[in-house]
Amino acid sequence: MALPADWADRLTLPLIAAPMTGVSGPELVATACRGGVIGSFPTHNAATPELLDEWLTRIAADLTPEAAPIAPNLVVHRTNARLTADLDLLIAHRIELVITSVGSPAPVIEPLHRAGCRVFADVATLRHAERALAAGVDGLILLTAGAGGQTGSANPFAFVRAVRERFSGPLVLAGGISDGHALLAAQALGADLAYMGTGFIATPESLAREDYQAAVVAATLDDVRETAHIGGLPANLLTEWLDAHAAQQVSAGDFQTERLLGGQTVWSAGHSVSGVHGVIPAAEVIARVRREYHRARAALLETACK
Ligand SMILES: Cc1cc2nc3c(=O)[nH]c(=O)nc-3n(C[C@H](O)[C@H](O)[C@H](O)COP(=O)(O)O)c2cc1C
Repeated sequence: MALPADWADRLTLPLIAAPMTGVSGPELVATACRGGVIGSFPTHNAATPELLDEWLTRIAADLTPEAAPIAPNLVVHRTNARLTADLDLLIAHRIELVITSVGSPAPVIEPLHRAGCRVFADVATLRHAERALAAGVDGLILLTAGAGGQTGSANPFAFVRAVRERFSGPLVLAGGISDGHALLAAQALGADLAYMGTGFIATPESLAREDYQAAVVAATLDDVRETAHIGGLPANLLTEWLDAHAAQQVSAGDFQTERLLGGQTVWSAGHSVSGVHGVIPAAEVIARVRREYHRARAALLETACK
């Protein structure tokens, strides 16, 4: 495993509860971390830097040193007017891991490293992976086809293997993972950790509204459509919501930070929505994934070719 040794005893699954705009807040993050899963949330889910400060204090107060790390997500796009304020807060709160998305991680790496914080960057192409590594990130999150929210289009098998040829450090596979079988498969491929986003939307700890949670429970992967016309970048959304909000469409490529950061409720979900069958407490979701993961591992060992 390429993961830092100081995390080994604190993770009970090779899993990150992925950052989700409008979904991940203090309760979901703290529950994940208590359950041995790295808990992430986008800093912009706290409406102001002052609220972010409160959230970070509240989450830390809820956790013991044995809990899994929290991993705030910074949108590093040049149009993010809160970037410096949020970055300063993460440093002041001595965060262990920051996840960057939508843009180059380069400007935040040096200040975070100086504060002893690791930086993982999400990437959707090999070219972006190489650039992030050249900039000095500690780990990569590979966004692959079918991921909830902003997505990649690369095949996960090919993408993980291609990046592993170039990088032996921490790799996180994102997209389509909703149970212990898929989680084990991610490790078998060569990833150290996996992201699970969609699988945590329909939980009482999530910030998602009830109607969105109900739509996620009702949907299958056939009800997910990829479009670049809502946030300006390719993203997976529930078709039901897309059809009802056709008027909100923007041009592809026209990424609008204020749309993302403005807390607009977009019913996003990935292909893994097929694995969501009810509104279930996050601790129970984690316990189920853990059971499946161990059963899948035992079954695989029994059936593996000699
Ligand atoms: C509702 C929703 C909102 C998301 N918002 C963010 C975000 O703010 N920042 C980010 O880096 N990724 C965001 N994502 C992507 C997730 O972090 C992750 O890559 C994705 O959920 C993985 O695929 P899965 O949904 O199949 O597990 C979002 C995903 C969803 C479903």
